[in-house]
Amino acid sequence: MGATPVIHLSPPVGRARLTWNGKQTPPPLAAPSAVEIERCGAGDHLLLHGENLAALTWLLAHGYRQRINLIYIDPPFGAGIDRTRRVRLRGPGPARLIPAAEVEYRDTWDDDAYLQFMYERLIALRDLLAEDGCIYLHCDFRKAHHLRCLMDEVFGAERMLNEIIWFYPRGGDGERQFNRKHDTILLYARGDRWTFNYDAALIPYTRRQLARFRQEDERGRYYWNVNPRGERVKTYLRKPGIGAYDVWTIPIDAALIRDLGYPTAKPLALLERIIRASSQPGDLVLDCFAGAGTTAVAAQHLGRRWIACDVNPGAIQVASRRLHRAVLEHTPPSAGFSVWRIGDAAPAPQGEAHVRVTHCDDQVTITIEGYTGPALAAASPTLLDWRSIIDEVLIDPMYDGVIFRPAIADAPLRRTMLVRGAYTIPRVNIGASLALKIVDVAGGEAFTVMTIH
Ligand SMILES: C[S@@+](CC[C@H](N)C(=O)[O-])C[C@H]1O[C@@H](n2cnc3c(N)ncnc32)[C@H](O)[C@@H]1O
Repeated sequence: MGATPVIHLSPPVGRARLTWNGKQTPPPLAAPSAVEIERCGAGDHLLLHGENLAALTWLLAHGYRQRINLIYIDPPFGAGIDRTRRVRLRGPGPARLIPAAEVEYRDTWDDDAYLQFMYERLIALRDLLAEDGCIYLHCDFRKAHHLRCLMDEVFGAERMLNEIIWFYPRGGDGERQFNRKHDTILLYARGDRWTFNYDAALIPYTRRQLARFRQEDERGRYYWNVNPRGERVKTYLRKPGIGAYDVWTIPIDAALIRDLGYPTAKPLALLERIIRASSQPGDLVLDCFAGAGTTAVAAQHLGRRWIACDVNPGAIQVASRRLHRAVLEHTPPSAGFSVWRIGDAAPAPQGEAHVRVTHCDDQVTITIEGYTGPALAAASPTLLDWRSIIDEVLIDPMYDGVIFRPAIADAPLRRTMLVRGAYTIPRVNIGASLALKIVDVAGGEAFTVMTIH
């Protein structure tokens, strides 16, 4: 992936247009450089670390124009706060927050800057979307009205398929207005054909609903024979669920958010529903505001190819951690992914690991004796177990000095669990390099290379 052509994004023409101060057609963009830094398993999924306009330009310049079948994006909504990652100590016992401020992303915008930001990205996304592809744009009451106008402008009002309401009943009280408990997901098609898997979009019957269809006719079809007015008529079970409404009730997954430490992570069930409804196995799914990588994880589970991008190194770490598990702990291993650094994306801050390697006959044991994280200086001296600040340990036993290829990923999902801290592997190639990567709970990393004797 060498040459760096200049990409022209074509502004929409002939449609009603939303205007703001400083609105401008996206200028021609030089495709940025990109470096592959990690590869997990064998496969062609892509996790891109970088600013997403640069990443989308890179994709346009490298053969992905009109190749994406499904896009889901969950951009910042202009919540007026800077989202910070929750930094909790791992391990048993009550969760303990520790002093380490890492900004997950800034979500304070003025309207003009926000609209220009989204306009440029939506145009690039339209250029990547296949003729029969679809795009889901996730937003809330703060920006839904503006984004709907922008989507009409970029994709065409006639391409709007749904305004989906994601209702998440949980806690909270609106004391000065009604309780705000839904997000809006705008669904648009790129052209006049699109994928919609009706059966896959159905809401499965609950056990109670299914239990009504007790009787079986001579052709093996299930039915129940009392309708709501009490007349005797046969109502057959014709489809595997109830209507694919545009109001979806899916609870927020608080346990997942706590385990990942990523407050904006969406429930896997939401993304699985979208991917099942609007793509086929093997299709290519893109999310360029990937956050904790929920879209990629759902696509991986459902056998779709995926590309995910985020500018925040902490998001890339959390997404990678989930994906390492999905790839390496799957038997047989499921399709792998590579991580690319796009343009001048800043690497994660560097920590320091204290590692001991012991060689014994045909085995090598790597023991981590301590770790100091760059954002955890205040917390470190008070820790009883250094493992309480570690989210993941990765080992590449045959490091080639260029691309890190973890074969072992120790990434406990639950917050209450700790990494093992000692790893024994076969001593295959004397003189080979072994690389170890440690990722801490506040987004720091240590990378250590050792030689096997
Ligand atoms: C609301 S979160 C997405 C959460 C995600 N849907 C999930 O389930 O975890 C928005 C994400 O967009 C990322 N982001 C914001 N601006 C970006 C940009 N210009 N390029 C790439 N990522 C960006 C933030 O770092 C953040 O992780």
